[in-house]
Amino acid sequence: MRIDIITVLPELLGSPFETSILQRAQDKGKVEVHIHDLRNYGKGKHKQVDDYAFGGGAGMVMTCEPIFTLINELKSERAYDAIIYTTPDGKTFDQGMANSLSLKENLIILCGHYKGVDQRVRDAIITHEITIGDYVLSGGELAAAVISDAIIRLLPGVLNDETSALTDSFQDGLLAPPVYTRPADYEGLKVPDILTSGNLKAIDLWREEQAIERTQSRRPDLLKD
Ligand code: ADE
Repeated sequence: MRIDIITVLPELLGSPFETSILQRAQDKGKVEVHIHDLRNYGKGKHKQVDDYAFGGGAGMVMTCEPIFTLINELKSERAYDAIIYTTPDGKTFDQGMANSLSLKENLIILCGHYKGVDQRVRDAIITHEITIGDYVLSGGELAAAVISDAIIRLLPGVLNDETSALTDSFQDGLLAPPVYTRPADYEGLKVPDILTSGNLKAIDLWREEQAIERTQSRRPDLLKD
C-alpha cells in the first residue's frame, strides 16, 4: 500500500510515522507513506496556499490551485483508489472504514486547515470525506495520522500474532474483554481464577461473555443490530 498525505504542516506528521509499528510496517515494505508539503505548490514569494472567503467572514480558505496541481501530479503517476479529505463535517471514521480502506492500494489524504478547502476541490477530486469524531481539531493532520494508523496495522504482516488485529475491540462488533498479566496476585489484587485454570475452552467462553457484558454496559449502541 502507498499513502500520500498532503499537508501545510509536514512537521506534525513526522514522528507518528517514524515510531513503533508504523515505522516497522514501512521498513518491512508493507506500506510507503509520503508526506507532501502543500506549501511547495503555493503561489508567489510567500508560497500562499490560502485566501479570504468569498462573501466575507472570518477565516481563510485553502485555494484550489496548489491542491489540484499536486493531486493531478500524483494521479499522473499512479491510479488512486481513494482521495480522502479530513474534515469535521465528514463521515465518522470507524473500524469498518479502516477495514475497507486497508484493502486499497493507493490512497491520498488531504489534511484540511483553516476554514477548510475551496468547495470545488471537494466536488471535483475528493472521494471520501472523513471526520475522526465530533470535535474540532486545529487541522486535519492528527486525523490523517489516526486514519493511517488504523489502516496500516490491518495490512497483512504488519502485526505479529501477539498483537493480532482479529481480537481488537470492534473487529467482531464487540469491545475487547479485560486482560491481565503476571503476577496472578498483586498485593491482594487477584486475577480471575478462570484465566489461570489452563482450561482454554472455558477461558474462550469467559472472554466472550466478558466482551458481551462490557459492550452491553459501555456501548449498547454497538449491539443494536
Ligand atoms: N479537522 C478538524 N477537525 C477534524 C476532525 N474531527 N476530524 C477530521 N479532520 C478534522
